[in-house]
Amino acid sequence: MDLDLPANAPKTTREAFDYVGKLGRGATVGDLKILALVEAVGLKLYEEIASKAEHPEVKKLLLANGREELGHAHRVSKAIELLTGKAFPIPALEHNPMFTEISPMPITKAAFGGLVKAENSGGNLYENIASGFDNPEVVALLKLNGKEEVAHGVRVQEAIQYLKD
Ligand SMILES: [Fe+2]
Ligand SMILES: [Fe+2]
Repeated sequence: MDLDLPANAPKTTREAFDYVGKLGRGATVGDLKILALVEAVGLKLYEEIASKAEHPEVKKLLLANGREELGHAHRVSKAIELLTGKAFPIPALEHNPMFTEISPMPITKAAFGGLVKAENSGGNLYENIASGFDNPEVVALLKLNGKEEVAHGVRVQEAIQYLKD
């Protein structure tokens, strides 16, 4: 599958998260492609953390976030299609060039606190990216993702109360 990614596209999951963390107003279609692929990896990361969490409520909250991360990938893909006129199907994980193994996050209050911060930054990130586009449908898709990132932060915060340390 030819995803037609920018030449400077990241090569690992870690690099990919750093890359999208620096996006904002002025993000290009190439940047959106990387963002869509990173969101699809987000499902896998949440599934991994959920599989190690013992408390059923924690698992449930994490899996709900994970499902929505894949939804974010599809919304960004839709935005790319609106901007380019060309479909950008989200590849299966094994064909996702942004996916490489990364060390799993520990199930601790501290680690989850970091995740809350990351999700909240995701809210700002999408607001900033959206501000660079004129197409109202594209703007709406990006802003909706941003709102859900903030809601993810709320879920992770909720999960923290079930953790012992
Ligand atoms: Fe997301
Ligand atoms: Fe999220």
